[in-house]
Amino acid sequence: MVEHVIKIDRERCIGCGMCKKDCAAHNIEMRNGMPYVITDDCIQCGHCVAVCPKEAISIGGYEEALPVQTKETRLDPAQVLDVIRFRRTVRQFQDKAVPAEVLEQILEAGRLTHTAKNLRDVSFVVLDKEKDKFEGMAVKLFRRIKPFAGLFSSMVRRNQVDDHFFFFHAPLVIVIVAKDRTNGVLAAQNMEFVAEAGGLGVLFSGFFASAVNVSNKIKKALGIPKGKKAAAVLVLGYPKVKYHRAVPREKIDVKYL
Ligand SMILES: Cc1cc2nc3c(=O)[nH]c(=O)nc-3n(C[C@H](O)[C@H](O)[C@H](O)COP(=O)(O)O)c2cc1C
Repeated sequence: MVEHVIKIDRERCIGCGMCKKDCAAHNIEMRNGMPYVITDDCIQCGHCVAVCPKEAISIGGYEEALPVQTKETRLDPAQVLDVIRFRRTVRQFQDKAVPAEVLEQILEAGRLTHTAKNLRDVSFVVLDKEKDKFEGMAVKLFRRIKPFAGLFSSMVRRNQVDDHFFFFHAPLVIVIVAKDRTNGVLAAQNMEFVAEAGGLGVLFSGFFASAVNVSNKIKKALGIPKGKKAAAVLVLGYPKVKYHRAVPREKIDVKYL
């Protein structure tokens, strides 16, 4: 692991104290009007770097140049709501590959998604050439356990586990791996938004995630280390189906206390 150390450039620092004020870890103190980092043992969320008006704080050990926000990006709430309202799980895909640059943007959304305590425990396995092999492993597993699962669920009894039960002939699958499931799921949701903005349809495959998490063989073949799990699985491709309207949903269940 590369060590990341927070550095303050005293030539640039104007002692405004913004870094101390915004530090969630209370890890910066002011001495004689200048900020000092108390310990390197902090969550390294980077707020001190982002908030400094003079670019006086950096965290060492990273390669990327940090983009500067020159204008605020604001989405139209009504448009965002429509995106959520009209998105559907897609299970019919065109026989068309996802371009590398589109995949890159989707992965970037995952990389940039926040994690609890800035744990950064989320990683990704892209199934492209080996997709069918992994789907085959999961199909084999599900066919074995189906008679037992079918005892408890009529939906399981009705479902045929055919050769494409998990991925529906989609060209691309991303397994989102994490220690903390919530961190992985947040990344997955942001990735779905970017995928849809790029014209793709998406399916969250809970079935494939379960197959991975119950089978050490599949986990090992995917290279998922001990202590991590498949938090979510995104199945992606260009849709071969068009939805014309929203679908009915129950009224909101909300309490105001
Ligand atoms: C976490 C999660 C896991 C899911 N897993 C599967 C799955 O394995 N197979 C499948 O066909 N659909 C799966 N779905 C899709 C749901 O069935 C779908 O979201 C729901 O029926 C509502 O339809 P809509 O997404 O089109 O609004 C999953 C959805 C979520 C949120």
